Amino acid sequence: MKERLYGQEEMEAYIEALFPPDPDLQRVLTGIRERGMPEISVPTGYGRLLTLLVAMSGASRVLEIGALGGYSGICLARGLQPEGRLSSLELLQDYADTARDHLAAAGFGPQTEYVVGDAADSLEQLKREGRRFDFFFIDADKGGYPRYLEAAIGLAEPGAVIVADNTLLRGRVADPLRTGPSVLAMRDFNRMLSEDPRLTGTLLPAYDGLAVMRVKD
Ligand SMILES: C[S@@+](CC[C@H](N)C(=O)[O-])C[C@H]1O[C@@H](n2cnc3c(N)ncnc32)[C@H](O)[C@@H]1O
Repeated sequence: MKERLYGQEEMEAYIEALFPPDPDLQRVLTGIRERGMPEISVPTGYGRLLTLLVAMSGASRVLEIGALGGYSGICLARGLQPEGRLSSLELLQDYADTARDHLAAAGFGPQTEYVVGDAADSLEQLKREGRRFDFFFIDADKGGYPRYLEAAIGLAEPGAVIVADNTLLRGRVADPLRTGPSVLAMRDFNRMLSEDPRLTGTLLPAYDGLAVMRVKD
């Protein structure tokens, strides 16, 4: 009998079912649903990876681009060093307020700041202020990714880690017939992570495409 090949969705469902309930993250998902916000937080296993990557890299100044309800924010904050801080850029005031409430409820209020507005402007502002970060998580509008990556490199400490979500756009990046603005931007982003001499990066075909990079010393 030929062995059945299990699909990515089945494997992800299996992994998600392994993790015990997490009240702080469950509060975020419930809050998002009750407020009618989009239910597009990172999955549980992905969030755990964010915690691990922040902790393993020893990061103490984390910058998130795209907060939504604070799910990935909590996962990032969980990996921080004791004196570490999370800064999060979010376009919408009510989403930033929701995320701030959820981070506070999870015990990370004093360690978290939200900057509201278009991330492109917020990143410029952080640069003008001379801010530096040692970990970045990019998860906002897909058309902005190349700009966000360039800005992240400009704000990065040597050796900083940059992680980005949705870099395969459900496979559309690999389809030559797809030429929409998000696909073109993501192809530029993926080319940059693989070729830019300032970065060592790779792209994992997990979830919707998980990019991991390190800014060279
Ligand atoms: C996929 S959701 C982020 C999910 C979140 N990282 C999580 O997993 O919990 C994308 C977020 O980016 C925000 N966003 C979209 N365009 C943006 C922009 N130009 N600047 C800043 N944030 C933006 C959206 O409002 C939304 O909250």
